[in-house]
Amino acid sequence: MEKLIIEGGIPLRGHLKISGAKNAALPLIAATLLTPGRHILRNVPDLRDTRTFLKLMESLGVTWHYDGYSLNIDSTRLGFSEASYELVKTMRASVLVLGPLLARLGRARVSLPGGCAIGERPIDFHIRGFEKMKVNIRLEQGYVDAEIDGRLQGGSINFDIPSVTGTENILMAATLAQGTTVIKNAAKEPEIGNLVDMLVGMGAVIEGKDTDRLTIQGVEKLRPAECEIIPDRIEAGTYLIAVCATGGEATISGCNPSHLPSLLDKLRTAGCLIEEDGSSIHIAARGNGGGEFSIGSADIKTMPYPGYPTDLQAQFMALMSLSNSVSVIKETIFENRFMHVAELRRLGADIQTDGHTAVVKGVGTKGLLGAPVMATDLRASSSLVIAGLAASGRTEISRIYHLERGYEKLVDKLSNLGARVWKEQE
Ligand code: EPZ
Repeated sequence: MEKLIIEGGIPLRGHLKISGAKNAALPLIAATLLTPGRHILRNVPDLRDTRTFLKLMESLGVTWHYDGYSLNIDSTRLGFSEASYELVKTMRASVLVLGPLLARLGRARVSLPGGCAIGERPIDFHIRGFEKMKVNIRLEQGYVDAEIDGRLQGGSINFDIPSVTGTENILMAATLAQGTTVIKNAAKEPEIGNLVDMLVGMGAVIEGKDTDRLTIQGVEKLRPAECEIIPDRIEAGTYLIAVCATGGEATISGCNPSHLPSLLDKLRTAGCLIEEDGSSIHIAARGNGGGEFSIGSADIKTMPYPGYPTDLQAQFMALMSLSNSVSVIKETIFENRFMHVAELRRLGADIQTDGHTAVVKGVGTKGLLGAPVMATDLRASSSLVIAGLAASGRTEISRIYHLERGYEKLVDKLSNLGARVWKEQE
């Protein structure tokens, strides 16, 4: 296994281009199962999760070619309809093949994803939604066994919580269902808008993009896709926070500032200077002159989009650990998303948690000291990178396979911003 070594205390400066969004690439790859043919997806990030998803697609009979940017997928021959536990346990987003397989083949057998570090991660909303579309579903031996006699039937589906992949799964299935499907309390994340654009480009009839109510008129068939993946707002947010945390100044390009309304607001509240310009954001920490800088405090409460993203909660906690005041962080989406707290404390952070609330007493921009820490999940690991970049001395982060799931060329991108960071064998 590899670990990441960081010599901290260096302000990040320069220019960085954001990659395509992991959480758009995964559902859009799944959507190519909906119809035979050759599909082209552009701006696909090269990540552990996208490679895992392509292994799953291969196991279903799909062939593909990826050049580091464009992904060509041929889903003409779809031989199987089972997503095995071996693949699904490493990436719960594999559940996204359920909807397309049911729409295309009328049957699917997908392993239940099992929990992960941040929570139990059930898929009951997905299952209830498919049952509303007349799918017969049996849960046995850790698998979802789903099939339908004839064609999927459109229905009215109301999510208790606006589930992102739940919305994506039902949306994909509904494009080929008989009649009309209405999804109420749908999630509104930009990645869903990207999927809507792709499906409409394939011939789907969908109204309500970017709203909490999607209406889909089922069609007989779809044509192959040609679509571009949107920029990764969580990657962009992670680097914006890292620049602030190290007292640096940088331009983040190839991103979409309108996808980060809540984070930009909170960074401004914390005193960062931010200019938005089309597809780039210029950010600088609030300097006190002579290389000194300070970070103010801001409270956050994670909410479904466009509220503050849960996927940027851990990163913001690292930033608030460096502030000159106290901040309160509430996690409302997942039940166990404070795994980074114990690790941040090892670097000197002063954080008290009580259930889903963390109170962070900033120790100032020079208050963290490097130490060995362990990554527990994707976004917690990026929080440790940020803290390590800001801490003085050396930080060693073990289990960095978590990081590689969602951050493309992380060492290159940080090194290009002046960070002293490299990988070593554990
Ligand atoms: C998506 O996960 C993202 N993953 C997550 O990003 C992200 O944190 C999450 O949305 C919330 O924004 C992908 O898009 C691949 P949910 P998803 O269904 O769809 C509960 C990352 O770091 N729920 O929106 O699995 C659930 O437990 C990952 O890139 C049910 O109870 O999340 C949670 O409390 C981590 N039953 C809430 O809803 C269900 O059937 C929202 O979950 C489904 C969800």
